[in-house]
Amino acid sequence: MSEDQPLSAVSPVLHELRAGTHTRHVALEKRLPFFSNTLDLERYTRLLSAYYGFYHELEERLQHSPWMTHDFDLQARLKTPALRRDLQALGVSIQSLALCETLPALHSPACVLGVLYVLEGATLGGNVLRKQMSQRLGLEGHNGCAFLYVYGEATGRQWKAFLEFLGSVPLDAQARDQAVQAASSTFSCFEHWLERQEVLL
Ligand code: HEM
Repeated sequence: MSEDQPLSAVSPVLHELRAGTHTRHVALEKRLPFFSNTLDLERYTRLLSAYYGFYHELEERLQHSPWMTHDFDLQARLKTPALRRDLQALGVSIQSLALCETLPALHSPACVLGVLYVLEGATLGGNVLRKQMSQRLGLEGHNGCAFLYVYGEATGRQWKAFLEFLGSVPLDAQARDQAVQAASSTFSCFEHWLERQEVLL
């Protein structure tokens, strides 16, 4: 996780989100099979199908949440369209995919922020993952690897803009706590879902 910003540039909520989710990130990263010798095209396709079942449902909820702020351009940041393109390129029939029902609760604007932190942060490992998938499986943006590098060269800019947005939202200690709980719950719901889909190591 990024340590390269001076402490003064890190908003209190970002600091708490990082501290509150670091362990979960490390644990999930270890269980994802992107770097495993056992990963082949079939397993990658099942993994991405499981991602779809989670992202599709969570992004639907965000789109319909009354707590979703208009200051954040959710439409421009949806990841499900890239997943759909990848799965189509890989020959998956999307209609038949299982969808996740156990999702983080979105009962306040702070919860929405916590979820967005995880979904936006998850793009940061994308460059290394897509290089790996290119070398191992010959996948690029057009044939099954658009999701992993969804913002392409704009990844850093997009993250910076998200952090500015996050830092601009006034949050008291209780709201910050809600954001951390929601972020933490996003990681655990995702991990449980991937586990149930039998795609983790
Ligand atoms: C094997 C898979 C993964 C790898 C290799 C990976 C790698 C990384 C790396 C290198 C960063 C830091 C980037 C930087 O400092 O510029 C990062 C940040 C982050 N990742 Fe992952 N990641 C993986 C999976 C995930 C998943 C599945 C999620 C959540 C669904 C996630 C959520 C986050 C978040 C929220 C951050 C932001 C941390 C911060 O505040 O700086 N990552 N990841």
